[in-house]
Amino acid sequence: MKAIEGMSVIVTGGSSGIGAGTALYFANRGARVTICGRDLAKLESVAAEVGSYCQAVQADVTIDADRRRLVDAALDFGGARLDVLVSNAGDMYRGAIEELDEKRLLDVFHSNVVSGMMLTGLSVPHLEKTHGAIVFIGSMHTQRAFPGSAPYAATKGAIEALTRVLAAELGRKKIRVNCVRPGAVFTDGKPRTGHATDTAAMERLHSLAPEHALGRIGTPEEIAEAIAHLACAEWTTGSIVSVDGGLGLGVTHA
Ligand SMILES: NC(=O)c1ccc[n+]([C@@H]2O[C@H](COP(=O)([O-])OP(=O)(O)OC[C@H]3O[C@@H](n4cnc5c(N)ncnc54)[C@H](OP(=O)(O)O)[C@@H]3O)[C@@H](O)[C@H]2O)c1
Repeated sequence: MKAIEGMSVIVTGGSSGIGAGTALYFANRGARVTICGRDLAKLESVAAEVGSYCQAVQADVTIDADRRRLVDAALDFGGARLDVLVSNAGDMYRGAIEELDEKRLLDVFHSNVVSGMMLTGLSVPHLEKTHGAIVFIGSMHTQRAFPGSAPYAATKGAIEALTRVLAAELGRKKIRVNCVRPGAVFTDGKPRTGHATDTAAMERLHSLAPEHALGRIGTPEEIAEAIAHLACAEWTTGSIVSVDGGLGLGVTHA
């Protein structure tokens, strides 16, 4: 296993939820972590909480110039190296198939899939030097079919396909590509679930608890543990690891 200490890590969407938990996990173990998001206030507050091993870069992953600035900033902060890209930033779009808005559908594919692909391309020359790793964040939506979630589930299906193809493509450069597939995790909620209010989003998340074999939803730290494992496990690539409290089992309460 590689050591986290001394790594240079990018976490997209590090200003909230799973991304913020991941930044904290790596920084607490001695990595130099660069987080990005669009909302500067949220970003700076997480960076201040994580401490001096974390830098905040206001960047929208759907914008090419922002992605380039993010990678440059991570190289500066991380001692001219990049070891890990955690491609976590993502949005939610739900809706009945007859009512989907094409622009919103393209936008969710842009933020959840295309941006991570483009950022991976920019990171490869640097990850090649460190024999580094990419960790994508998928979702249990590829295993459990929630009506109305086709747009989001389709983006996460694409992430799983990407993980396998890029692992094959980048193996010769000694870059590993893996994916963590979380169950329901307690996070900011509203933007992710597409519900009208924070309360409605939280109610929806908590209503999923009995669907998990372990009877509860997860925490960002529990996802960060798996991300860190995949960042460090030197003979693991192309893996899609469910960290879901048993949601993917399809537990049936007869
Ligand atoms: N929580 C769950 O139950 C769960 C389950 C399965 C998978 N996931 C996946 O885990 C990842 C994180 O989810 P979360 O629940 O932690 O969500 P969250 O709390 O809503 O955080 C999303 C993060 O992504 C950032 N972001 C979104 N679009 C961005 C963009 N275009 N450019 C830069 N940053 C952007 C947000 O910051 P700004 O809005 O300020 O840009 C925020 O920091 C997502 O990929 C999600 O699909 C979550």
